[in-house]
Amino acid sequence: MNADTVFETERLILRPFTGDDLDAVFERTSDPDVMLYQNCGTLTFEDTRTGLERTIRAALETWPFAIRAIVVKATNQNVGVCHLGPCHRLEGHPIEISYSIVRARWGNGYATEASARLIQYGFESLDLAEIIAAVNPKNGASARVAEKLGLSVREKVEWPKQGLVDLYTITKEAYADWRRACSNT
Ligand SMILES: CC(C)(COP(=O)(O)OP(=O)(O)OC[C@H]1O[C@@H](n2cnc3c(N)ncnc32)[C@H](O)[C@@H]1OP(=O)(O)O)[C@@H](O)C(=O)NCCC(=O)NCCS
Repeated sequence: MNADTVFETERLILRPFTGDDLDAVFERTSDPDVMLYQNCGTLTFEDTRTGLERTIRAALETWPFAIRAIVVKATNQNVGVCHLGPCHRLEGHPIEISYSIVRARWGNGYATEASARLIQYGFESLDLAEIIAAVNPKNGASARVAEKLGLSVREKVEWPKQGLVDLYTITKEAYADWRRACSNT
């Protein structure tokens, strides 16, 4: 598995971004509801283009594990992004899972389904020891996704422009237990 790996779940394809994703990405980055808890706020079309180009280049030149477009198999629509990679805002750069879905597709389980696949990749292929998620406590949907993925709050950490956020974590061992528990229910 490398920068080009395409992941698959029951309903989704998680593939690297291309220049053709610009309109789909801009639908998210221009929406204040989607960007409410992102430090940068909403983006212009040009800033979105620059960001997308940077994402595509970085995925090829370095190997930040996985930043993937979330594409619904049934419609071939790009509905969001899911990222597993180092969190540069925290000391020691722990590996973070993050997710964002276009407003019109919230509530379909896409963030959870996509993130679960990247977390599986992180623990079972990359042999990571721990994965974290930083969640603003006001962001109920994001907190719920983290919980559905088996993560739990360890501590509060100071976050730029957001104040204290909840640091969710799951260790490799807890993940194995959580997978076992899921398969027994
Ligand atoms: C957070 C986000 C990615 C969730 O995407 P999604 O595809 O709708 O998530 P899912 O459908 O997998 O799960 C959402 C869960 O949150 C619940 N939820 C939604 N709004 C909620 C709220 N205000 N408070 C508590 N729970 C809420 C849903 O009911 C669902 O839980 P359930 O399956 O138990 O019913 C989406 O809301 C989003 O893109 N938000 C803006 C970007 C963002 O904040 N990203 C997180 C930063 S890391």
